[in-house]
Amino acid sequence: MITPKIVRTVADLRQQVRAWKATGEMVGVVPTMGALHDGHLSLARAAKRECERVITTIFVNPKQFNNPEDLLKYPRTEEADAALLATAGVDLIFAPPPEEVYPEGYSTTITVAGVSEPLEGAMRPGHFEGVATVVTKLFGMTMADRAYFGQKDWQQLQVVQKMVRDLNIPVHVVGCETIREADGLAMSSRNARLNAEMRPKAGALYAAMTSAAEAIRNGADPTQTLNLAASQLIAAGFERVEYIELRDAATLLPVSHSGAERRMLAAAWLDDVRLIDNIPV
Ligand code: PAJ
Repeated sequence: MITPKIVRTVADLRQQVRAWKATGEMVGVVPTMGALHDGHLSLARAAKRECERVITTIFVNPKQFNNPEDLLKYPRTEEADAALLATAGVDLIFAPPPEEVYPEGYSTTITVAGVSEPLEGAMRPGHFEGVATVVTKLFGMTMADRAYFGQKDWQQLQVVQKMVRDLNIPVHVVGCETIREADGLAMSSRNARLNAEMRPKAGALYAAMTSAAEAIRNGADPTQTLNLAASQLIAAGFERVEYIELRDAATLLPVSHSGAERRMLAAAWLDDVRLIDNIPV
């Protein structure tokens, strides 16, 4: 197995991508912040199935952290990440230092109004501006034809898709299914912060959401059902449910007409770990 080449500058990255494109190869990109797990790898594998060349970016983007402590605590495991990406057939890792992405004097921010405002946007002010800005830059830097994102971060996926449409960015965005642990817990680098006492309780989030979704599909009142799900989570040992909501899957607004595709989205605290998840309804 060949370890993917690690590139740190935009100039080196572009040189490689231009060489690939000159021979007609399709380039896919998987943007990540590292600390990779099977969820990330599933995106890389999907990219490798559809593109001749795959770039994974590893960049812990300071602009999307509204809590400086969270940024400092974010795990950095580049060597292990590179070994995992080799198993998925990734060709190149782009892992720039912060000053390569945000040089002195950097001053542009992308705001995707509407879809980035509720839920995660309301709880984490500035978060989606940071995501939209860095993702736009990564698209420009990599010149990728296709980009792979996880449904795990459903609102992020909708923000990126809206931004690509609004700005005519020439990239095709692909949303990949959420990869879960055996008990249903969505894989996340934050799960490692759950201690042995808390980890067995975490599966309650997906369990409560799936049973609420089934009840709603069977005609139960959404508000009552979601309130019940929230109290089930507290009973299961969660400290606090930030939100558990039924929304229009594309706009993230409250569901306005019966034909709209619906998504249930939730954020809840277990011990001092914030878990998010979402499922179709
Ligand atoms: P990060 O949290 O590292 O996630 C990178 C990608 O992996 C995202 O598209 C995310 O949705 C996907 N992912 C994470 N867990 C997953 C799971 N269990 N199943 C499927 N996909 C999963 O999201 C970010 O980084 C950043 O915001 C980024 C887009 C890189 C911009 O900085």
